[in-house]
Amino acid sequence: MNVDGTKYRTIWLAEDGASVEIIDQTKFPHAFEIARLQTMEEAAHAIRVMQVRGAPLIGATAAYGVALAMRADSSDDNLHAACSALLETRPTAVNLHWALDKARKALIQVAPEVREQAAFKFAADICDEDIAINMLIGMYGMDLIAEISRSKRPGDPVNILTHCNAGWLAAVDWGTATAPIYMCHDSGVPVHVWVDETRPRNQGAYLTAWELGQHGVPHTVIVDNAGGHLMQHGEVDIVITGTDRTTATGDVCNKIGTYLKALAARDNEIPFYVALPSPTIDFSLSDGLREIPIEERGGAEVSRMTGRTDQGTIETISIVADGSEVANPAFDVTPSRLVTGLITERGVLEASRKAIADAFPERVRASA
Ligand code: MRU
Repeated sequence: MNVDGTKYRTIWLAEDGASVEIIDQTKFPHAFEIARLQTMEEAAHAIRVMQVRGAPLIGATAAYGVALAMRADSSDDNLHAACSALLETRPTAVNLHWALDKARKALIQVAPEVREQAAFKFAADICDEDIAINMLIGMYGMDLIAEISRSKRPGDPVNILTHCNAGWLAAVDWGTATAPIYMCHDSGVPVHVWVDETRPRNQGAYLTAWELGQHGVPHTVIVDNAGGHLMQHGEVDIVITGTDRTTATGDVCNKIGTYLKALAARDNEIPFYVALPSPTIDFSLSDGLREIPIEERGGAEVSRMTGRTDQGTIETISIVADGSEVANPAFDVTPSRLVTGLITERGVLEASRKAIADAFPERVRASA
């Protein structure tokens, strides 16, 4: 998408053809910085410290991490070691497992002498596939928003609430939840986005607001607790979020706080949609609440905040009383019964085992 009028992806092969460049997401929203990854260890570090984050982008970065590992040592042993090391970086987003599993199976069949080139091509293909999928999600989601728009007074925007960042910064391009929003905006369907700030890491305030602003999409940042109130007062027409892992039965795991938005949406009869590429579906799981590993992150993300002072310096301050305990579960699970529909590359599906299996029979077969 656009950054100051220039088109960017979130990850790409550097001009030297041997290293990878990313947009460093720890610097947002006050700086736009590109970082270079030259080794598998640097790719793993970038995922771990969230220089790159968001389920699809984590998968794409892991694929490039394998390629960087193959550049250093293309042996079978190193392929397995790299996949295992990258798998340890973050626990919840299943795209990481999907990309690494696919990479390992594809590359083990390639002779070590040509494995490096094959691995870089594999990673580039994963990126292109992500973009193609997100464009389809965008088209299907756009129909939902356009239908709501037709029921409103001409010129009145469709008010969409989103949580965390399921935007192009979380993917390779377009994003999942944002793809329909960008497509509506670009084709003249008026939209306005309520952006949950998404404590503790503020992906909404730091990332979603920034990328919507760069693209000129009208939006308003709200504190996480405001969504229910806005829904009660008719200010939200539809909720669209992303997901880090969705079970074969349609339970949706996403950034902490998503569940509360789904509850509020249900109480106010507002449609609650989840946009997801099929690599985010974990066909081996049936019970999201019990089976999805929820990442616990460091307490400093809760007890501290980083921002720009009036003098222009970036500073981190403490906001919790000394000595208080803090807890930081990073994701929660929204049961399928609260999900109006799943916006996928194969259409808008009911959040049920049957609808998901009917749409992706080959994935069900592969997981059996
Ligand atoms: O901890 P993060 O920032 O990686 O979490 C990201 C999310 O929860 C997104 O909503 C999810 O990955 C969907 S991204 C298209």
